[in-house]
Formats: sequence, C-alpha cells, structure tokens
Amino acid sequence: PAPGWSIDADVVVVGSGVAGLTTALRCAAAGLATVVVTKARLDDGSTRWAQGGIAAALGEGDTPEQHLDDTLVAGAGLCDEAAVRMLVTEGPDAVRRLIGTGAHFDTTDSGDIALTREGGHHRRRIAHAGGDATGAEISRALVEAVREAALHTVENALVLDLLTDAEGRTAGVTLHVMGEGQHDGVGAVRAPAVVLATGGMGQVFSATTNPAVSTGDGVALALRAGAEVSDLEFVQFHPTVLFLGAGSEGQQPLVSEAVRGEGAHLVDASGTRFMLGQHELAELAPRDIVAKAITRQMELHGTGHMYLDARHFGAEMWEQRFPTILAACRAHGIDPITEPIPVAPAAHYASGGIRTDLRGRTTVPGLYACGEVACTGVHGANRLASNSLLEGLVFAERIAADIVEERPGAGPAEAGDHRAPSPLIAPEARSTIQRIMTRGAGVLRSAESLATAADELEALHNSAALAVEADEPKVAVPGVEAWEVTNLLLVSRVLVAAARQREETRGCHWREDRPERDDENWRRHLVVRLTPERR
Ligand code: SIN
Repeated sequence: PAPGWSIDADVVVVGSGVAGLTTALRCAAAGLATVVVTKARLDDGSTRWAQGGIAAALGEGDTPEQHLDDTLVAGAGLCDEAAVRMLVTEGPDAVRRLIGTGAHFDTTDSGDIALTREGGHHRRRIAHAGGDATGAEISRALVEAVREAALHTVENALVLDLLTDAEGRTAGVTLHVMGEGQHDGVGAVRAPAVVLATGGMGQVFSATTNPAVSTGDGVALALRAGAEVSDLEFVQFHPTVLFLGAGSEGQQPLVSEAVRGEGAHLVDASGTRFMLGQHELAELAPRDIVAKAITRQMELHGTGHMYLDARHFGAEMWEQRFPTILAACRAHGIDPITEPIPVAPAAHYASGGIRTDLRGRTTVPGLYACGEVACTGVHGANRLASNSLLEGLVFAERIAADIVEERPGAGPAEAGDHRAPSPLIAPEARSTIQRIMTRGAGVLRSAESLATAADELEALHNSAALAVEADEPKVAVPGVEAWEVTNLLLVSRVLVAAARQREETRGCHWREDRPERDDENWRRHLVVRLTPERR
C-alpha cells in the first residue's frame, strides 16, 4: 500500500532503547527536527531488561587500556581495535553524561559509583542501578528526558522499509502503525537521515532473554535496502537464564552475570563446581566458554539445566543487590536464598548486525545503525558483558554528531516507493522458525544441523501455504505479525548461511564438527549484501 500519511523531519530514529533515545535527544538538542518511532511503547525494548549494568573504566586503578584488553580477548580475534579503543576511551564520559541526563546509579558509602564484575572482566568495572535493574533505570531516565524535551514520538509503529531518493540516498522510512490516531495504518516519516536502533533478533530462537519485540526488523530492513550486514553468525547465548522447563518458549528471565560476579557458583546436581580448572576466571570466564561448559554438563548428565548456587549471599544481600532476580525466581517457585537456581543458556545478543563505520554510518548514504542492530566492530565474535549499553550510548553520540555536522540532504523520495516483500509470511510460521533455529543453529552447531536448518527455512520460504500476499483480499493490510515473521525468516536464512560458511569455532559460534579456531583461514568477517533480485 502507498503511505497514507506522512511526517517530514531532519532525522527519524527507529527504536527507543538507550541507542535510539540518546541519539534522538542529542539530535534534538542540536536543533534538528527529530522524530522517534518505536514498535511498541517507548520503554518496551531490550534496554529495560538489562540487569548487570554498563561497563566503563570508572574505578580507581582501572584504565580504558585494561577494558580494551578484556574486550579484545572476549571478541576472539575479530574486534576492530580502533572501534574498541574509541568505545572504552569515550565510555566513561558518556556514562557521566548519562548520569547528567538523570540516570541514578548505585553508589558506595563514600558516594562513588558502585562497580561489580562480570564474565571476561579482570576487574570491577560494571556500574549498576537499583541493584539489578540497570536497564530499567536508564530507560526511565531517557524516556523522561524525551518527554521533557517534547520530542515527536510515534509508538506502536513497526518500521517496514527504507525510502530512498533517485540517487539511492536515504529519504525516510515507511511504517505500519496501530492505534495512534492521526498516524494510523501505513505511513511514512520523510527524512534525509534515518537511524536504525531497533535492537536485536533474539526471537529467532525459541528461548531468549529478549522481549517479544526483538524480531530482527532493522537487519531485515537493511538487507532489503541493500545495506551491508556482517557477523550474523555470532549469536551470544547467555549462560545463566532461569530454566522454566523443557520446551519453554519466548522471553525467559535472565539471571545476571553479576550474580556470578558477586561470587555465585555454577554446580551440577551433586553440588560440584564444574568451571574450576576450565578457565583461569572459572565462573567468570567469557560467556561463550561458560555457556559451552554448561551445555556440555547438561549433555553429560542428560538434563535440561545446571544450577547456580548463591545461597551463601543470604537474604539481605539477595534483597538489596538482586531484587529483580529474586522476585523473578520466586514468581517461578524458586527461592535462591535456600536453594540453587536451575539455569540453562538461552539466546541473548546479536554480536553482528548492520555494518557501520566509526560514526555509525551504514553503506547506504544517510542510513545509520546504532546499538544491538549495528555491527560497529566492537564485539567481534563475542561481546564482552555489559559492553552493549555502553556501545549504544557512545555510538549514539557519534551518530548525532555526524548528522549535525553533515546535515545529509535527500531529494524527494521516489514515487510508489513502498513495496511489501512478496510473499509476506503468515504469523503461524513464527514458532516453526524458532524451533528450526534452536535445533539447527543454537549453542551447538554442525555442518549437518545447519544444512538441515537451511533446507527447512528454504522450504518455509517457498511454501505457498504460508504466504500472505499483500493484496490478499482477506488481509486488508498485512498485520504487524506477518511483517515480524517475514523479518524473522529473512534474518534466520542469512544467519544460517553465514554460520554454514564459517567452518571453524570462534567466540560464540561453536561448530562441533570444527572445534578449533582457524586463524589462518577465518580471521575475517563475513559480510552480506543482498542483490536486488534476492531482496
Ligand atoms: C547480565 O546482566 O548478565 C547481562 C549483561 C550483558 O548482557 O551484557
């Protein structure tokens, strides 16, 4: 359908987590007409769910150089060192500016920012808020700042596609909006600068820490727009997610690494610690190592989970330091004060995404990507814990600076510029995609499992039974669910293709049939750009 309404702006920011709202606030503060569009409510993205915190060299004796070292080690040889250096150097001040925006971090008795540890960090470096509710506090502060600045926001707005001008430069986005009055149905925000800050794609898998909105929309849009996407094979599985029973689907409660950072132990059913001797940091090894070790133990014992034992924290520490996790465990009948917590790995973070330079620019002029949706080079093959909020924050400021400086211009968008991908996939395919991906491209992968997944996804893609044609008479306007599932299928296919191609084990990409890292052949990135006929 052609856009039924349209808004003109200097910049449109798609997404409302730390990356999106920081970019929008900075652009607006510089006088740019800024519109924020977001798929659900302003605080419904992944940022709100972040627990552990935000990493930055804020502590006495810590330096950006040490933070750089830990990030490079976790990234398993694929980080872009210049990007990491920038992240860790600009990080501390960016966190201080976030505090200036109104976010309250936990402090020590002497008034300094309290810092905890997480996997892969050799020192206490993680600032947190509300104990284990860091993302919720950051989200609250940013949403409040956006409201105070009276930014133009459109909620319940699923981004569909990029608009471009005759020269192929960004000219805005089309959106599908539900229940927002004058901006209802399919419409457009026309702007020469578009910032994608749509978050991740955890919903590609059956069990994930990501909220329901994380369906890879930004990466799918970028692929359809011909932008380069990189490192999609590197999906990070968080080692310790509360185990809710075999076959549990959708968003699962996270048990932060900070619980291990404060001294919790991973144990098997007999209470034996199995991380000792596996890595010098034991339970605080980088998370790919911990996730693999847990998965191996689960296989060895034929069970769906291992245990995280933090009974020794005692009631007071649990209540003050980890109130969110305590409540989530109790809501599911587990009391971590008196019993070990059943945990298993679940999909958590896309280390890859839309390829950008150090100013957040994608390969399409005027199109930027920020936060989890982007691949800036800071995460390599495996993101270091609590570097994600930091990346969103630091790159948001860089992107805003670039837009203000460049003021990209665009000619009028081409007529008839919005075209639904054909076919749209019926919403019922969602759990089929998730099961295929979990079986074939989960924590453990092999040439065989990936080939099966690729075949099954291809069959789904070609299945006429699942196609909802955009002009199908019974579907007046294809629903948000059909768009989401179409996006899930597209990003799944590209992810599996990349995972098949990378014939080695590296970072969070674990090939059982190729257990060794192969620097000679694979110390490189896989970059995908769809040709027009494949979009
Ligand atoms: C956690 O709190 O364990 C999550 C931290 C992260 O994903 O960076």
